[in-house]
Amino acid sequence: MKNRDVARLTDRYVAHTYARYPVALVRGKGARVWDADGREYLDFLAGIAVNALWHCHPAVVRAIQQQSRKLLHVSNLYHILPQAELARELCRHSFADRVFFCNSGAEANEAAVKLARRYGGEHLGGKYEILSAHNSFHGRTLATLTATGQEKVRAGYDPLPEGFRQIPFNDLRSAEDAIDAQRTVGILVESIQGEGGVNVADPDYLRGLRELCDRRGLLLILDEVQTGMGRTVKLFGYENFGITPDIMTLAKALGGGLPIGAMLAREEVANSFAPGSHASTFGGNPLVCSVGLAVIKTLLSGGVMKNCARMGKFFLQGLEKLKNRFSFVRGIRGKGLLLGLELEMEGAKIVDECMKEGLLLNCTAYKVLRFAPPLTITEKEITRGLGILEKVLARQ
Ligand SMILES: Cc1ncc(COP(=O)(O)O)c(C=O)c1O
Repeated sequence: MKNRDVARLTDRYVAHTYARYPVALVRGKGARVWDADGREYLDFLAGIAVNALWHCHPAVVRAIQQQSRKLLHVSNLYHILPQAELARELCRHSFADRVFFCNSGAEANEAAVKLARRYGGEHLGGKYEILSAHNSFHGRTLATLTATGQEKVRAGYDPLPEGFRQIPFNDLRSAEDAIDAQRTVGILVESIQGEGGVNVADPDYLRGLRELCDRRGLLLILDEVQTGMGRTVKLFGYENFGITPDIMTLAKALGGGLPIGAMLAREEVANSFAPGSHASTFGGNPLVCSVGLAVIKTLLSGGVMKNCARMGKFFLQGLEKLKNRFSFVRGIRGKGLLLGLELEMEGAKIVDECMKEGLLLNCTAYKVLRFAPPLTITEKEITRGLGILEKVLARQ
């Protein structure tokens, strides 16, 4: 089957929820992918920050092979060794004491909202409201799209659930003013707004939110679905800011390409979940957790994070050169290998043209080109990709 055949099949049978490019990616190796017509692309998007360890990284492939020979799935009615081990590793390397596993970022945030509500009911006189930021993105379930600070994500889904309100990002005073002493239970925020345009939280903002939550007895919930698992040079984004949250959510890169989500919490907060209060059939199954273990071990022991730090700097230097050359480049933002190049014009056409030249990236918030390559990317690949981008920008 060629690209066109796959596209035809998709158009005929798959729900029309995505605006797709006219290519079908069928194979991946390292930082490269190939489409059904045999064309090769350099992947600067990595499944939107999922393939932190390349495509088909040997550690991930090995974990899938080994675990799939033993046991793919059992119910959470039983103990699951890879799940317990992955939870232990996540807790060892973070602020958290307990982990709830699910299958996606939205579900991880849904779990965080549910836990915050139970905690509010148990300890804070029934407080339930979550404050989140304008331009944030937290998922597509009804609760998480209501927490998401983007009108376009919420459009058409009224009536939305109660108990969510948005505040301006990076504005501490507004956060404090927005707190409702009777209702607000917590503040949900990303350390870098990935979908919202690669907007990095000011260190003073996150530290201020931590202090505010402590002073007002609220939960600080960090959505690290996109920033987690090494992408910002630290294993978790919050480590760049010298704070710890009460609850954190992960997904994307944690599964090395398999679907997984995780909600991590401090013991006192996690204790508001009791047997029966939340569950997931597939959450934390043996296969995904074995792969999650391989991902975290490889990230921590294989020099990947060091590579992310070095390549992040190298990538940034390359983007600086583009900014100096093209007057329509407004700015560069990001940390590690989650980077954005803000343009004066819409970026969709540039993404299209880059794809035609063999480079995958995407555009968020209309004007921001987003780069989230595998953390294992090399200097040579970055140079090649930025060369393609430069050629495309020069045509504008
Ligand atoms: C910060 C953040 N939170 C949550 C989500 C939702 O994750 P998922 O698509 O796995 O439900 C995303 C997805 O892009 C995200 O970037």
